[in-house]
Order: sequence, then C-alpha cells, then structure tokens
Amino acid sequence: MHSRLKLGVNVDHVATVRQARGTDYPSPVAAAELCMASGAESITMHLREDRRHIQDADVLALSALNHIPLNLEMAATEEMTGIALKVRPQEVCLVPEKRQELTTEGGLDVAGRKEYFRTVVNRLTEAGVRVSLFITHDAAPLEAATDVGAPVVELHTGAYCDAIGGDRDRELEALIAGARDAHERGLQVNAGHGINLNNLPGVLEIPWMDTLNIGHSLVARAVMIGLPEAVREMRAAMDAYRGGRS
Ligand code: PXP
Repeated sequence: MHSRLKLGVNVDHVATVRQARGTDYPSPVAAAELCMASGAESITMHLREDRRHIQDADVLALSALNHIPLNLEMAATEEMTGIALKVRPQEVCLVPEKRQELTTEGGLDVAGRKEYFRTVVNRLTEAGVRVSLFITHDAAPLEAATDVGAPVVELHTGAYCDAIGGDRDRELEALIAGARDAHERGLQVNAGHGINLNNLPGVLEIPWMDTLNIGHSLVARAVMIGLPEAVREMRAAMDAYRGGRS
C-alpha cells in the first residue's frame, strides 16, 4: 500500500511578480497560506544568491509560521548554510546554482565533491534540518547521496518534462529506475522541476515517491484561472464611478 503523494508548492514566482514592480504584493507568504489551505503539504522557497525573487525576509516570515513546513531550496554555499542554520527550516534542498541560468539546470555533482557535501549535510542535520539533494537519476549521484548521509533525494524531472517522443519515454524509464535505486538505498524519494498537468501522468508512473515539488506551472495556471475574477473585481470597483469631481 502506497502512502498519499504529497504536494510541495514552490512560491518563488509569486515573488517574481512582486519583484518586477518593487511592490509589497503579491506576498509569497500569503500565497503559501492559500496553498496550504488548498491541499499543499509544504512550501518551497528558493533563496537564490542573486535574490532575484525570494528575499531573506520572506524566508524569515515563512519560517516563523510553525504550521507551514518550509523546504528551503538553496545552493550549498557558506552564506546559505549560515542562513539555514539560523532559520532552521524543516527541510533544506541543496541545488546547483548558476547566476546566468533561468532556472535550476542540472543535478548536484555530489560525487565530485563528496567531502564538502558530507560536511554541509552533517551541519544541517545536527541542527535538526532534514537534508534533500537535488540530483539526476544516475547511479553516481545516487550512490554519492547515500555516502554523504542525506536522507532524501529530489529527482530532477526536468529532462523528462522537456523531452518529446522517444526521448521522453527513455527519460521516464530512467527516472523509474533511479527511484527504485534510491528507495533500495533507503533514501526518501522526492521529485520536481517542470511538472505540469500535462506531464503529470508520466511522473505518476515513478514508484516510491513521497513529495512532488511544483512551482512555475501552478503560478502560471493561477494567473489564467484567477484573471477572470481579478478583472470582475476591478470592473465592479470601477462601476462606482459617478463622473468624478466636477
Ligand atoms: N525542485 C527544485 C529543486 C527546483 O529547483 C525547482 C525550481 O525552482 C522546482 C522543484 C520547481 O520547479 P518548477 O518551478 O519547474 O515547477
């Protein structure tokens, strides 16, 4: 019997809209409350080195809300580790980060920097933070994730979600094999990146999954579902017009 697949919502792109105008809305923390009230089980915030969307204050504000499990996504740098040790979110997902990228591109090279990751994982674990490593489904990072003592891996679904035709089938088979391998190693299996309603059925073929972390497609869909209501609201407010001051 499998347990219920959990949904973690990434609210980064709520902050993207806010940062585009330098306003104090929309608030990713208020969005997190809405997501939790609608069936999400946790909230992800990616505090990027360049602070392009989520800000330090967002992480602090969300972490102060004890009823919302926070998965802090971050690069494994000294600066970010320091912030995570101060904030102590329920979970930290370590990701590779490049300044120029539009979004997280590949998986972490855990095998190439095992000692370094072992130290970061240990420091966070000792502070009571559950550490997840964002990796591809290949054997080397899975083996390295086990070696460095991370209890959780998040499998990168981006290549599957972006692929078409036969490549897509091959990517899915590889994800399925990777999830089995991770489970046999005793790792909790999460997955994320690029998931939307169209590619979700394939993702649901992956065994042993605990949590799916989904962001961009949910915010994009929210715009389309929410715009009619937002326009109706504005239209109704404008109907208060009585010709202005004479
Ligand atoms: N998981 C990780 C580790 C990510 O880097 C991202 C993107 O920030 C996501 C999940 C969510 O991806 P998307 O926004 O494409 O749903």
